[in-house]
Amino acid sequence: MSFERLQALVNAADAAFLSHVEAPGAQRSTRAIFETLQDALSDDPVLRLGQAKRLPACIHLETASAPERFEDAALRALVEAFRALEPDLTWYERTGDAPGANAAYRGGHANTMIVGPGGLLRHQSVWLGMSLMAPKVRYPDHTHPPEETYLALSDGDFFQEGRGWFTPGMGGTFYNPPGIRHAMRSGERPFLAMWALRAC
Ligand SMILES: [Fe+2]
Repeated sequence: MSFERLQALVNAADAAFLSHVEAPGAQRSTRAIFETLQDALSDDPVLRLGQAKRLPACIHLETASAPERFEDAALRALVEAFRALEPDLTWYERTGDAPGANAAYRGGHANTMIVGPGGLLRHQSVWLGMSLMAPKVRYPDHTHPPEETYLALSDGDFFQEGRGWFTPGMGGTFYNPPGIRHAMRSGERPFLAMWALRAC
């Protein structure tokens, strides 16, 4: 059932963020996020089903989320739970202007919101989702009011205003305070990352 798969995904994400997040801001934010999420799930919520959609960039999902790529048990459990839930998810491209993006960005990326305003589980203040990119895609600079913690599930680079480009590596995490400009880019391989946002 979809609810059980969603609960399993949230449990796996909860454990993966708990074991990988290091920055104090990210620890505080993600602990609050998963506490809120576990509460929301305990209320037996109605899920937004029947909206499943894949995009062309999803041809990279199989490679990017192949469980054998993940040596870390918590990360492997997370991608396995994600793959089980994915048939119920809606993939979408980011809309609006795209400062800094390259030509490969259109058609070369896909996002899915598991929890959030348009998520499988609707929620206003907590968002949980994945970004998938084809090789050699540069995602646009963007900002958003909610604070955000990324969990990298592949190689790939991230940009944060004041810090420049950096490479967290598989299982690496980083924290975006509210409103900070940030971006990401893939290298020679597909890119996968989970994000957890919280409106403060
Ligand atoms: Fe973001």
